[in-house]
Order: sequence, then structure tokens, then C-alpha cells
Amino acid sequence: MTAILVLNGPNLNLLGTRQPEIYGTTTLADIRAMVEAHGSRLGFTIEFEQSNHEGVMVDLLHAARGRVAGVVLNAGAYTHSSVALRDAISSTELPVVEVHLSNIHAREAFRHVSHIAPVALGQIAGFGPTSYTLALDALAAHLGRERG
Ligand code: DQA
Repeated sequence: MTAILVLNGPNLNLLGTRQPEIYGTTTLADIRAMVEAHGSRLGFTIEFEQSNHEGVMVDLLHAARGRVAGVVLNAGAYTHSSVALRDAISSTELPVVEVHLSNIHAREAFRHVSHIAPVALGQIAGFGPTSYTLALDALAAHLGRERG
């Protein structure tokens, strides 16, 4: 089995009640269940994490190095601000798919900038919880291609 880290950033623990008009009513526990079910169909074991702290997220990326084959990252607001997370991705050379529930490009201008995107394999945004399962499909395709 191939391990995949699914890492969630700040405020995503509040999904379900947080601005449901933007993020819907699905909780992070619901997303975890979806991701684990989809992951097992793809032959992935899922390590599902959430932190409100930038440094903890950096530590989780460092710890993932050499242990997981890829990362699905919803960095929340740190997407738009964190050079440290971007450097952690570059330093660990982990293949990362950036995900967002909402379409960040259709929202406020400050959300149009992602410090993660230039060091990610790609970005999936705007499909609600399905963004996560699409990201797993993208990682499966990428890893399959890598294995040749
Ligand atoms: C988000 C989008 C970010 O702009 C925001 O700060 C979040 C959630 C999303 O999943 O749509 O916290 O990453």
C-alpha cells in the first residue's frame, strides 16, 4: 500500500459550520471518510491531518518525507501567505496536489495568489469535497506515470 498525506490547514476543523454558503455543510470528518474510502479504491493508505499552526504543518511535511508517496494539501489561508510552507514543499521534494473547496480565483483578489501553486504538481479548486478525491485521482495518475 502506498501512503498519502492529506494535510489540512487553519480553520478547516470548523467545516460544517464555517461559512456554509461558501464551504458547504460537509464536516472535515465527512471529508476524511470520503478520502479514506476513495484512497482505498486507489490502493492508498491515508494519513489525514489538520493543524491551525503553520510550524506544525511544516513539521508534518518534513516527517512525511521518505514515508509517503504524495501529499494532498489544503493549506487554507496559509496558501496565500506562507513562504515557509512553500519552502517545506521545495525542500522535501514531495509531490503535492494543492486543493481548495472553493474556487479561490472567483473570490477576493488576495485569494488569487497561491505561494503553493508554483511548487505543486497542480491545483484543484472549486469542487467542494470532491476537490480532495480529484486530487487523489491526480496523484494516482502522476505516481502511475512515474512508476512507468
Ligand atoms: C480554502 C480557501 C482559502 O482561501 C481559505 O483561506 C480557506 C479555505 C478552500 O478550501 O476553499 O481557509 O483553502
